[in-house]
Amino acid sequence: MGNNLTTSLSGLNALVCGSTSGIGLATAQEFAESSANVTLFARNEEKLKHTLSSLQNSNGQKHQYLAGDFNSPDTIQEIVESHIASGAKYHILINNTGGPTGGPIIDTVPSEFIKGFNRHLVCNQILVQALLAGMKDYNYGRIINIISTSVKEPIPGLGVSNTIRGAVASWAKTLSIEVAQGGITVNNILPGFTDTDRLSSLIQEKSKSQGKSENDIALDMKKQVPLGRFGLPQETAKAIAFLASP
Ligand SMILES: NC(=O)c1ccc[n+]([C@@H]2O[C@H](COP(=O)([O-])OP(=O)(O)OC[C@H]3O[C@@H](n4cnc5c(N)ncnc54)[C@H](OP(=O)(O)O)[C@@H]3O)[C@@H](O)[C@H]2O)c1
Repeated sequence: MGNNLTTSLSGLNALVCGSTSGIGLATAQEFAESSANVTLFARNEEKLKHTLSSLQNSNGQKHQYLAGDFNSPDTIQEIVESHIASGAKYHILINNTGGPTGGPIIDTVPSEFIKGFNRHLVCNQILVQALLAGMKDYNYGRIINIISTSVKEPIPGLGVSNTIRGAVASWAKTLSIEVAQGGITVNNILPGFTDTDRLSSLIQEKSKSQGKSENDIALDMKKQVPLGRFGLPQETAKAIAFLASP
């Protein structure tokens, strides 16, 4: 997909979490094509190295990666604080990670809520606290959180996700008011069904639990989308790049 943005991200440093697959990967690629310096963040080091080597750098951008598991907020805090202490400074933070486990809320083991809260909200908070001083120095910050349409209308069968997304949306709105004076904006992206690994695994889960073929589950989902198709991660990435731009 070509880059039709009129605004460049040249000279801007972006930390893109969950950036080896799906929406995060497409965002990292879009940012690199828009001339930003990109730092990837996810768990699997092989995938990180592969993604890093695929990023465009024809405008002299410098890309790098951090490896860490958002299920372990203390470790994420150590990694990001030592990265910042070594001199890294960011204009853009994309808060994104793997979605919570699916399933009806009534059957959910209570500890799954803690896991989801840690991975999505606590890690966001840690990252913002670590990067905020740099954004204030630049008088430029773009904090963009990838959440879900479930903030507006809960999605059946995604009990933990529906619950945690609402918390992240409230956190983000509160934060936006506190940091606005420093030239920092906070926005949420609410993807609908988007053609990624996450969506494929949700379709597989539903196929097993409902005894229907994956194709039939996908068709049922597409019927809920006015365009009659899944979104592409590259489409979401363009909206994210717009929100990150000056
Ligand atoms: N796709 C959709 O239809 C859709 C719709 C609404 C909302 N969303 C939400 O949007 C977000 C991104 O979804 P996606 O579809 O792009 O997902 P995806 O394709 O599964 O990609 C998830 C990314 O996050 C990383 N990740 C997963 N677990 C992690 C962990 N514990 N610590 C650090 N990194 C982790 C993965 O890399 P590693 O495995 O290497 O860590 C990967 O880079 C999720 O929160 C999802 O629930 C998606």
